[in-house]
Amino acid sequence: MTALNASSMTAQHSIAIAIDGPAASGKSTLGAALAQKLGYLYLDTGVMYRAATLAALRQGISLNDETAIGALVQRICIDVQPPHVSDGRQYTVLLDGQDVTWDLRLPEVEAGVSIVSAYPSVRAEMVRQQRQIAHQMNVVMVGRDIGTVVLPDATVKIYLDASVEERAGRRWREILSRGESANYEDILAGLRARDQLDTSRPQSPLRPAEDAIIIDSTHHTAEEIISLCYNLVVTQLKQKAAKLSGPHGS
Ligand code: DC
Repeated sequence: MTALNASSMTAQHSIAIAIDGPAASGKSTLGAALAQKLGYLYLDTGVMYRAATLAALRQGISLNDETAIGALVQRICIDVQPPHVSDGRQYTVLLDGQDVTWDLRLPEVEAGVSIVSAYPSVRAEMVRQQRQIAHQMNVVMVGRDIGTVVLPDATVKIYLDASVEERAGRRWREILSRGESANYEDILAGLRARDQLDTSRPQSPLRPAEDAIIIDSTHHTAEEIISLCYNLVVTQLKQKAAKLSGPHGS
């Protein structure tokens, strides 16, 4: 693992793996698996926007009041930690010290988060916090704007895509596997709407960074994608470490 360790890069630069892509493309599964294999922190940045939305709802702040929500994100403390409980979660999210991990999936949060995440004042604060975390430790960071805005100098950038029909099918099967009911057409329509919002918003729209490796997972299993990306990350980290320690490295 020495070649992959931060100490083999420069002292002040930790390693960041950026993963972006549309909703339900498998980013979280890939991000969590890579972080586990590499021994890095896993940060799904979507939960930070969800926690801000939940905080606004709980404090009775209108989601249309950008000024109030901009002030709110300065006051609240969102902390993403390794899982505290073994109930299928990938992390524990604390909002002002309280475990809100599953509340972040409530329908009202789902419905409101695209409004809140489009506010420049909210994005500025979330991006500041995300950069601070990446500066302190090696991280696999997952989101929509990680390679383009949050960490433009990320060590490796992956853009994970899949057809909208495949993504809807995966989400549909996932819900059924939990014993809940779901309608494929409704999920498909919801994802199309989310794609439209994510790619067309003026603030940090979803798009691959110019130097991102674009991976289409439509015809591959999660295991195949994890293995492919892990090999790719290891190769890139070794190449970068060799460049830094080579005779002409800086
Ligand atoms: O990935 P997710 O569904 O948990 O994301 C929730 C919302 O936050 C979604 O509307 C996209 C937005 N988001 C964002 O704008 N930027 C990020 N880095 C991560 C998520």
